[in-house]
Amino acid sequence: MLRTHTCGELKLGDAGKQVTLAGWVQRTRDKGSVLWIDLRDRYGITQLIFEEGKTEKSLVDNARSVGREYVIQVEGTVVERLSKNDKMATGDIEIKVSALHVLNAAKLPPFTIEDDTDGGDELRMKYRYLDLRRNPVRESLQLRHKMAQQTRAYLDGQQFIEVETPVLIKSTPEGARDFVVPSRIHHGEFYALPQSPQTFKQLLMVSGFDRYYQIVKCFRDEDLRADRQPEFTQIDCEMAFITQEDILNTFEGLIRHLFKNVKGIDLPSVPRMRYDDAMALYGSDKPDTRFEMKFVEITSNTRGKNFPVFESAQLVVGINAKGCSEYSRKQLDELTEFVKRPQVGAKGLVYVQYRTDGTIKSSVDKFYSADDLKVWLEKFNAAPGDLLLILSGEEYQTRKQLNELRLLMGEKLGLRDKQKFSALWVMDFPLLEWNEETNRYHAMHHPFTSPKREDIALLDTDPGKVRANAYDMVINGTEVGGGSIRIHDRPTQQLMFTHLGFTEDEARKQFGFLMEAFEYGAPPHGGIAFGFDRLCSIFGGADSIRDFIAFPKNNAGRDVMIDTPSTISEEQLKELALKVPNPKA
Ligand code: AMO
Repeated sequence: MLRTHTCGELKLGDAGKQVTLAGWVQRTRDKGSVLWIDLRDRYGITQLIFEEGKTEKSLVDNARSVGREYVIQVEGTVVERLSKNDKMATGDIEIKVSALHVLNAAKLPPFTIEDDTDGGDELRMKYRYLDLRRNPVRESLQLRHKMAQQTRAYLDGQQFIEVETPVLIKSTPEGARDFVVPSRIHHGEFYALPQSPQTFKQLLMVSGFDRYYQIVKCFRDEDLRADRQPEFTQIDCEMAFITQEDILNTFEGLIRHLFKNVKGIDLPSVPRMRYDDAMALYGSDKPDTRFEMKFVEITSNTRGKNFPVFESAQLVVGINAKGCSEYSRKQLDELTEFVKRPQVGAKGLVYVQYRTDGTIKSSVDKFYSADDLKVWLEKFNAAPGDLLLILSGEEYQTRKQLNELRLLMGEKLGLRDKQKFSALWVMDFPLLEWNEETNRYHAMHHPFTSPKREDIALLDTDPGKVRANAYDMVINGTEVGGGSIRIHDRPTQQLMFTHLGFTEDEARKQFGFLMEAFEYGAPPHGGIAFGFDRLCSIFGGADSIRDFIAFPKNNAGRDVMIDTPSTISEEQLKELALKVPNPKA
């Protein structure tokens, strides 16, 4: 090997040892008579020392000639440092160098390889291999590695079998668009990349695998956000002969195992909340439960006072921002501007300040007396010092808008601490969701999710009211996983396809294989998939999943390092029998 030790391991106890180290030059400090080089590898940094008079002159000159990020190998003796650095693992020692070999010179990197770099996002992505040299990014990927190891350890311990499923498949309907791959041998025909291995894992249950998992790449052609990538990874799982309760317990176990073994945190047992309650209390099916600030409805307490906005509103609902009563006019205007942004879409914001001196001031004083407002304050359990923020309008929209405001206030009040973790199961999702564009119902989770037995009759009369045996795991307001108990018999699956608007022929063409499989002894089964990148980013206390992916795409879906998507040659197009409009024409 080109080294005897790494740059992170030598301690005072090693003083006197002859060692060989190799790595990258982090920085050089030249004091004239003494020259130091910080040598870096993935394990740490070790300081090298060259002293004029004591070190051979040619060696000092050689040391002076190496630049940042040069790859070098040095031989020398471990010595105790005169001025120690207790912030560094190797801060007690340095290497008195006797030989230096440049293994490879390096161009000056386009940004500094430091924890806080001067490189912008685009530049870091273009030179991602340099970005990956930085500690925070490397640590994120090490965390990911540990998460994968611990996931496998837990699931293996629970008798799960890891099975690989194909990547060139036929489209699986998970609600997003498919990425497709043209076939060269079968002109005009396409494979699709899996949005998830959903149908395959169900087939494995028919095969009797009983407990399956896979840490697997999934592909979805959808608009990107901080927590969405076109290719991402799932911890995909399925179990047979189980109830919903078994799934919840098994995978709560996985999450708690990960918190314990990766972060050393004892996560309390995960509370459960019905979808309807989540919407009513937080206006979201993925509430951030690190803080309370629950919604309070005051519709009936606002009527009959001639305030036209509330009078005509289907819902009047608000939150209590504790300790914010002394917000200035400017601060209140900013909150109003926030809810009026097109992304939030509210028409305005009503506030009630319960001042610290006990007086009450509101933006609707013209319509409501102090006694009227006192009733509101009581409903909100408000105390002097509190600020009520109230929205009104159509029920669903108003709740969504108030959810945005609640999250903003949580942020402002420092209640969304990234080192604090709050997990939640959201249960009993609706089975179907009305889609305005297509003018029909879509499966909220996917078409293989079973309806609650007691709701099946509603399928014909009030489909929107049918609840599903479906559940999501939410951590800190992010949906980290979702799953369901599946349909496992042909008639119910057929019924479901009919309600989703598939003709019998379309259903057979797309899912004939699955429905046929259900006729060969399909056991009751269900499962879940966790978004692995999202889990990692939450464990790492980050907002974006990008730094937990070695080579991510940017927000426009491009890999700017390898420069793709890109055109292909005329020859390739011809082979695939594809005609592509000339972008320059
Ligand atoms: P679902 O579509 O809910 O369920 O996906 C499961 C989890 O995957 C994560 N996720 C994503 N992460 C990053 N980028 C994306 N574009 C992205 N899309 C989804 C989320 C989500 O909770 N087959 C079903 C699972 C099942 O029923 O067992 C499925 O894929 O964290």
